[in-house]
Parts: sequence; C-alpha cells; structure tokens
Amino acid sequence: MTTSVELSNGLGMPQIGLGVYLVSDVTVCEASVRTALQTGYRLIDTAFAYRNEAAVGRGIRSSGVPRDEIFLTTKLWPSDYAYEKAEAAIGGALERLDCGPIDLLLLHQPVGDVQGAWHAMEEAVDNGVVRSIGVSNFTVDDLEKLLPEARIAPVVDQVELHPHWQQPELLPYLAEKGIVAEAWYPIGHGSKKLVDEPPIVSAARAHGKSAVQVILRWHVQRRFVAIPKSTNPAHIAANLDVFDFQLTPGEMADIDALGKDRPMFRMPRWLMSAVLPLARPRPRP
Ligand SMILES: NC(=O)c1ccc[n+]([C@@H]2O[C@H](COP(=O)([O-])OP(=O)(O)OC[C@H]3O[C@@H](n4cnc5c(N)ncnc54)[C@H](OP(=O)(O)O)[C@@H]3O)[C@@H](O)[C@H]2O)c1
Repeated sequence: MTTSVELSNGLGMPQIGLGVYLVSDVTVCEASVRTALQTGYRLIDTAFAYRNEAAVGRGIRSSGVPRDEIFLTTKLWPSDYAYEKAEAAIGGALERLDCGPIDLLLLHQPVGDVQGAWHAMEEAVDNGVVRSIGVSNFTVDDLEKLLPEARIAPVVDQVELHPHWQQPELLPYLAEKGIVAEAWYPIGHGSKKLVDEPPIVSAARAHGKSAVQVILRWHVQRRFVAIPKSTNPAHIAANLDVFDFQLTPGEMADIDALGKDRPMFRMPRWLMSAVLPLARPRPRP
C-alpha cells in the first residue's frame, strides 16, 4: 500500500498512482483502473483531454474499492478556461466520471483565461463538488501570476519530473509555497536511456528490484507524487511494489546527479497559446 503526502489543504494524497494518458481503448482503460485499485492503488490520474473519464469512472465503480478510499484527479483543458465554460466543463467531468466529488481538479496547461477558470474551480470547491484544486505545467512565472489572484491556493503542480529532468528552478519555488510536485513521465515515458543509467541499474541490483521500481522509489523518497501509466497488469503491480526497500543516501545522491538541463518534452509557449485553446477533444463514452 502506498504512502501519502499531506497537501496544503490538509488532505492526504497517495504518492504512487495510475496515469491513463494515451489509454485510448476505453475497455482497456476501465480494466486497468479496476486492476490497479484491486492491486492496492488509491490514486487515479485522468484528464478531459485523455478522452477516457467515463471509462475511469466505470473502472472505479466496478473495482469494489470504497469510493472514499480513492483519490481521483482530472484536468480541465484550455478550450474550457473562460469562467462560464469552466463551470460547464466541471459539470461535464462530474457527469462522465459519475463518482461523486473530484478529489483534485487541475488546470492542464498554463495558457488561455487561467484566472477565469480558476475562479470557477474555487466555486466548485465552495460547492463541495471538488475537494482540491491545482495546476499542471505551470512555471514559476505562471504561478507568480496566479497566486495573487487565487482565493484558494493550488495544492499541486503536475509537471514533467524524473531523474533526467528535476525541474531545478520550479522545485525550490514549490517547496517555498507549500505546493506538492507531482511527476508526469515519472519513469521517462518508457525511455531506455533512463532505465539504463548505471546508478539506477546498480541500485536495482543491490535491492533485488527493477530499474523502474528504483526510479519510483526515488520519487517516493523525494516526497513527490508519481503516476506511472501502465495497461500491463504485471507492470501495474510492480509499480506499486516500492514500499519494502529504501535507497541509501548515497544511492539517492547518485540518482540526483543524473539531472540534465532540459526536459524530454518541449513545446514553445507561443505554440501552446496558439493551438491548445482551439483544440477541444471530444470525450469517448
Ligand atoms: N499533465 C500533463 O501534461 C501530463 C503529460 C503527460 C503525462 N501525464 C500523466 O502522467 C502519467 C504518466 O506519464 P506517461 O504515461 O506519459 O509516462 P510514464 O508513466 O513515465 O511511462 C509510461 C510507459 O512506461 C511503461 N511502463 C510502465 N510501467 C512499467 C514497468 N514496470 N516496466 C517497464 N515499462 C513500464 C508503459 O508501458 P505499459 O503500459 O506496457 O506498461 C508506458 O510505455 C500519464 O498517464 C498521465 O496521467 C500528464
């Protein structure tokens, strides 16, 4: 069973969860969510843009795990960021998920009418249909613009984060503001370069674990939240099996030293601003 971190609003958030980005087959998505929950996962991460919220909801409802034990995250897409659009989009997400209140609602990208959407999200918290709100892909500059306008502070910033990209500017800022760092691409999106890194391979040998398990353990010990995606039941089980060993301070330092000076995924801000608000994904049933 996973450990948790405490969010600034007092809620506990599991440190390992299941991500369902690019799980476009809704039957596979539903089965993966159910398998993960039955394996002991208590955090699921979806988004409007993944077009699988309804399947996630079915996976949760058919898992047999009590809803109040599950931490469910979804995200709003920039095409829905103006205040009224965000209000309607939150209603749509609640309907598709059909699982009661959303535990964490994120702004998926920092472009468009961020403040209008944030105010709609704050009202959703006031109304009890959303329990926590946060952001994704926000830089220090983006947060500096949002925070003075926010009545309710973001609890999480979900960003690309793994041993090869450790967000050198953002992480100290998040720590100072009490915002939890949540990792996407936590295991490098399947990158062979990351799992073949000698310090990761040698820690894996020393502890009788896989390289992926060592990377996830590194996230846990850095106090991040990580949401590895898998549709493979053996991988789903292995990715949660990281709580029976501990990386030594030396192993942690050697993995920390793998940080590079650029992320794996990059999209220029002008392109994000021009394209993302116009592209409205169509939800799958
Ligand atoms: N907010 C954002 O903008 C954003 C962007 C990207 C991702 N995310 C979130 O972060 C989640 C994770 O990111 P991601 O899916 O892109 O990358 P990831 O979790 O780092 O990597 C997923 C890849 O690793 C493989 N894998 C999983 N467990 C494994 C294991 N134990 N051994 C070997 N291979 C394994 C998966 O294949 P199998 O399925 O075959 O196991 C898949 O190919 C997403 O699902 C999504 O929820 C958010």
